[in-house]
Amino acid sequence: MKKLLITIDGPAGAGKTTVSRALADRLGYRYIDTGALYRAVALAAKTRGTNPKNDAELKGLCAELELAFVIVEAELRLFLNGEDITDHIRTAEITMLASTISARPVVREYLLDLQRTLGKEKAAVFEGRDMGTVVFPDADLKFFLDATTRTRALRRYDEVKSQSTQTLEEVDLDIQRRDRNDSTRELAPLKPAQDAIVIDSTDLSVAEVVELMVSHIVE
Ligand code: DC
Repeated sequence: MKKLLITIDGPAGAGKTTVSRALADRLGYRYIDTGALYRAVALAAKTRGTNPKNDAELKGLCAELELAFVIVEAELRLFLNGEDITDHIRTAEITMLASTISARPVVREYLLDLQRTLGKEKAAVFEGRDMGTVVFPDADLKFFLDATTRTRALRRYDEVKSQSTQTLEEVDLDIQRRDRNDSTRELAPLKPAQDAIVIDSTDLSVAEVVELMVSHIVE
C-alpha cells in the first residue's frame, strides 16, 4: 500500500495525541508529536533563562538545540542535546511557555525545517496545530479534531489530576487562554486546512474516531 503522510491538527484536549498514536499503531506508521518540539524549546528557554519575547535570544537558543525522537522500549521519547526530556515537558508552566514561544516566528522557522525533514519518508502521522495548513500543505490526508471547550477541559483535567494541583476550572481557563493564543497568533494560527476532514470528538470514543479516520483513509 502507498505510504501516506497524515496530519492531525486541532485545539488542546481534543484527543489528538491518543488518536494519533492509535492511528499510527494501526497503520504501522511513525507518530510525531510536534507539540513536544515546542515544549522542548520552552524547556530549554526556561533552563537557560532565555527571554521568550526576544527573537535574537530565541534564535541563538534554537541554533544550539539538537532535538531527536527516539523509540525506547517501544515508547516514543524526545531527546534534547542527548538528554531524555520526555518527562519534563508536561508541567503547567512549560505548557504555557510553549504556547507563548510558539507564536515567535524564529521558533516556528527553526521547527519547520526539522518537521519537514522528519516527514520526508512519509508513513507517518503528524500531530500539531499547523500540520495541514503550513508544514505539510500537500499531506495525503488531513484531519482536524475538535471538541467543545468543556469536554476538552474535562479530558485534560483527568489526564493531569494525579500529578497537578490545578482544579477543573483552572484547567478550563488554561485551555481557553491557550486556544486564544494558538488561534489568534499571526503566524500559522490554529485553523483547519481548507481540505481537512473536520471531526468533532465530543460524543465519540477514541476507537470511534480512529475507525472514522480509517474509513476515510480506505476511501
Ligand atoms: O500539542 P501541545 O499541547 O503539546 O502543544 C504545545 C504548544 O505548542 C501549544 O500551545 C501550541 C504549540 N504548537 C504549535 O504552535 N504548533 C504545532 N504544530 C504544535 C504545537
